[in-house]
Amino acid sequence: MVTSSHTRARVSPHSDAQTLLQAGNEHVWLHASSSHALAVPTESKRIIVAGHGCMLTDIDGKEYIDGLAGLSLVNVGHGRHAIGAAMAAQAGTLAYASAADSTTLPALQLATLLADLTPGDLSTVFLCSGGSEAVESAIKIARQYQYLVGFPKRVKIIGRRGSLHGATYAAMSVSGTSQRNEPYHSPWMHGALHVAPPYCYRCDYRQTYPTCEVYCVEAIAQMIEHEGPHTIAAVIVEPISASGGVVIPPPEYLPRLRQICDQHGVLLIVDEVITGFGRTGKMFASEHWGLVGDIMTLAKGLSSGYAPIAATICRPHVVAPFASATGQRLSHLFTFGGQAVACAAALANIQIIQDEQLVEQAATMGAYLLEQLQGLRHHPTVGDIRGLGLLTAVELVKDRATKLPFAVDSAEVATLHAALVERGLLTRVTQVIMLSPPLCITRAEVDRIVEIIDCSLAVMERHYGYEERL
Ligand SMILES: Cc1ncc(COP(=O)(O)O)c(C=O)c1O
Repeated sequence: MVTSSHTRARVSPHSDAQTLLQAGNEHVWLHASSSHALAVPTESKRIIVAGHGCMLTDIDGKEYIDGLAGLSLVNVGHGRHAIGAAMAAQAGTLAYASAADSTTLPALQLATLLADLTPGDLSTVFLCSGGSEAVESAIKIARQYQYLVGFPKRVKIIGRRGSLHGATYAAMSVSGTSQRNEPYHSPWMHGALHVAPPYCYRCDYRQTYPTCEVYCVEAIAQMIEHEGPHTIAAVIVEPISASGGVVIPPPEYLPRLRQICDQHGVLLIVDEVITGFGRTGKMFASEHWGLVGDIMTLAKGLSSGYAPIAATICRPHVVAPFASATGQRLSHLFTFGGQAVACAAALANIQIIQDEQLVEQAATMGAYLLEQLQGLRHHPTVGDIRGLGLLTAVELVKDRATKLPFAVDSAEVATLHAALVERGLLTRVTQVIMLSPPLCITRAEVDRIVEIIDCSLAVMERHYGYEERL
């Protein structure tokens, strides 16, 4: 039966929990979810009503540790009134001015601050609203740059298997996640190529570091040479691939990649959407390797999720061909780029990161988390534990010797996830249990996370008989 919107019950935040759940179930299509998933117990979805620091409260009053900081972005933690106040003040003064004709005071302040904070001479900032838009912009800037400097055939972009760069079409094309394959199928954006990730625990080349001499990065040089350097616009990498399972490259990898790109006139796009703003114990993960990309993408921790905002930042040689004197301009615009309230949120967020020394806190608490997680190695289903700062993964295996992974949709993964949620830990379980909590996490919260994972692994292992195979 078709229901007219006029006859639908109105909901307000004061409606009872059951009414809200029904309304949400009927009308909210959660991302990456079945429709009407909110009321399906096995889907493990919820209505969150409040947050403070690392803690979240759902509509039934149940509390959770936000082990993933939302989707790896609430770096300063939940419930920051200072950010709300900055946004309210800006909204009352000026919320928006045309992204093409004008800039605003908070946008100008933010761009200047980002130029100052980001590595090397990254200095010209294109503001947009999310990580996918930032990556989409980087790809278009790279292609237009190559076109303007006289290489119109340099259109290909090399990404890596396992990486995630976003949900829009070009960003998805250069991503290497398996979700990309179904149900969209190719053709993807023309010229999107993929190489193996520097995933030492599961090396695609069946090599072992350091005897491998970091062959995975030399394979990028080989691909550029094989395709023809005159066809390659850029290589895109996350310094640490979170979606790939927190893949941390060996020390030589990124400096060598920088050399390879320079040798071949290929731009290097460094996607710091997840790793930026303190997540790995440095303001930007690039700093661990002295890396300066030609273009850097930022989002998530830029506002800690208080507003949708992202940035694509370029070095002077990248923007030079677009200068007024050349008669050229960037052929790319988003209506919401540089939205003033979002910029005010980002400025207030960065102020908190700096005032509370959350970058240093991420390094300290990340080291503590990694140390505590080592205690899980006695579990037969724990294959590897790795992390940098507060970007950490516990890799799950059916068998330690063969490293056979669990299928993401396996009963074991579902049981483990349910056990974690039941004990009050929100996180993501795929081939790894991923942990990227707010940077303001306390030692007590770290201890509780490890305790919950320990118990939940034991529940899953007992249920499926893994302990007996030790
Ligand atoms: C490294 C990286 N780049 C880009 C994106 C896309 O960001 P968004 O979801 O804000 O569009 C993501 C999303 O998780 C990401 O992890």
